[in-house]
Amino acid sequence: MSQRALLAPSILSADFGELAEGVRVVDRAGADWIHVDVMDGHFVPNITLGPAVTAAVARVTDLPLDVHLMIEAPERYLEDFADAGASVLTVHQEACPHLHRTIQQIRELGVSPGVALNPATPVESIRDVAADLDLVLIMSVNPGFGGQAFIPRSLERLRRARALLDETGSRARIEVDGGVSPDNAGAVVAAGADVLVAGSAVFRHPDGAAAGVDALRAAAAGAHLRSV
Ligand code: DX5
Ligand code: ZN
Repeated sequence: MSQRALLAPSILSADFGELAEGVRVVDRAGADWIHVDVMDGHFVPNITLGPAVTAAVARVTDLPLDVHLMIEAPERYLEDFADAGASVLTVHQEACPHLHRTIQQIRELGVSPGVALNPATPVESIRDVAADLDLVLIMSVNPGFGGQAFIPRSLERLRRARALLDETGSRARIEVDGGVSPDNAGAVVAAGADVLVAGSAVFRHPDGAAAGVDALRAAAAGAHLRSV
């Protein structure tokens, strides 16, 4: 880690009835990106939101929108999410038989391409596209729901992702998503994560979402200080 980790609160855990206010709170608290979880009821069991809500979020913040597509055949919707204001579009390796083409399509839309890996998918499976990516998302839960427990083996997978990016000369950031909290923020940063997604730890913090951002920031920064 050469720079401080970025924080990307996941609006999945926000109150959807007060979504604009939730986004403004984490923006003011110093969040770096807004993480938007898109689920289709096919690739994952849950259904969440689409381009219209993403565009609504874009109207209340200038922060980059980090759109995580947990959907089948994501290539059908890339343009819609780009038009909605996505800065990063992350597709799942498991949903893309023509992953290289899909990454190119994202790049051609002027958006940063990311690839997400489920906990059972080998990190090695993205070696041949690593240099084309701006983001590698290591899922630290099985995707579909917020509030799940962090899978400890994810730390080893983050280390492997870091090694793979170094070996391939990729400048992609590594993002970790699922069960991230102040209890493990230091460990994920030490293992190689550059971007921390957190839903429950931010929006369900007992003292409010701003306190959640502060607590994660402090925990992640502590790891950085220890590692230098
Ligand atoms: C899970 C989503 C995550 C989720 C994280 O499928 O991709 O972004 O919202 O929520 P927490 O931080 O509660 O695990
Ligand atoms: Zn996500």
